[in-house]
Amino acid sequence: MILLADKISKSFGGRTLYSLATLQLNAGERWALVGPNGAGKTTLLKIIMGTETSDEGTISFAKGTSIGYLEQETKLSGRRSALGEVMDSATEIKRLGARIHDLENLISITSDEGELEPLLEEYGRAQDRFEHAGGYELESRARAILCGLGFPVSDLDKPAKDFSGGWQMRIALSKLLLRHPDLLLLDEPTNHLDLESVQWLEGLHLDL
Ligand SMILES: Nc1ncnc2c1ncn2[C@@H]1O[C@H](COP(=O)(O)OP(=O)(O)OP(=O)(O)O)[C@@H](O)[C@H]1O
Ligand SMILES: [Mg+2]
Repeated sequence: MILLADKISKSFGGRTLYSLATLQLNAGERWALVGPNGAGKTTLLKIIMGTETSDEGTISFAKGTSIGYLEQETKLSGRRSALGEVMDSATEIKRLGARIHDLENLISITSDEGELEPLLEEYGRAQDRFEHAGGYELESRARAILCGLGFPVSDLDKPAKDFSGGWQMRIALSKLLLRHPDLLLLDEPTNHLDLESVQWLEGLHLDL
């Protein structure tokens, strides 16, 4: 079990969106939440994310679950390029990379055996995690994701904020995919995607 939304009820101004709704997501599953405009799809995602409260019920996650949430509307700011924006989202990888760098320095100046051993152990673990998280291929993965979602290579260096809403959504989606969270919550991602990008996304395994 990755996520359990248990007996969730929610009303706005006397209008019931759901009553005692239960949803369980298990690893490897893909679910679609389908309903007309105003049915409460976005609200349920917000309840899961904790930015909206439910009237009744509980949300629980498996321990340590990482979540990526793509909101229905996206607005990017700042001066970073599309590629830079996506690469910068890999905060865990960047943190690990910085720690590996620090450990290398510490190891090079430590001569005491007793102090060296735990440093070497941590260094080994950090390198394993860095490799497992795709740290060595960060840029090539970011490029592959953006191109998979339809960006021409010549656009990757353009400022992210200069793209239209639909393309900004693709950049925001790329950021999530790069981090490969355990749980991806996408609010109407196909609104701005063409068939080719949808097919690429459907075929994507998050170990990319
Ligand atoms: N904060 C709020 N206060 C009052 N009513 C709200 C609030 N948020 C959402 N609603 C109402 O709750 C209903 C469900 O909204 P929600 O955005 O979850 O629907 P949706 O299924 O995502 O719709 P769409 O397909 O248009 O994105 C709508 O009638 C909306 O007006
Ligand atoms: Mg919505």
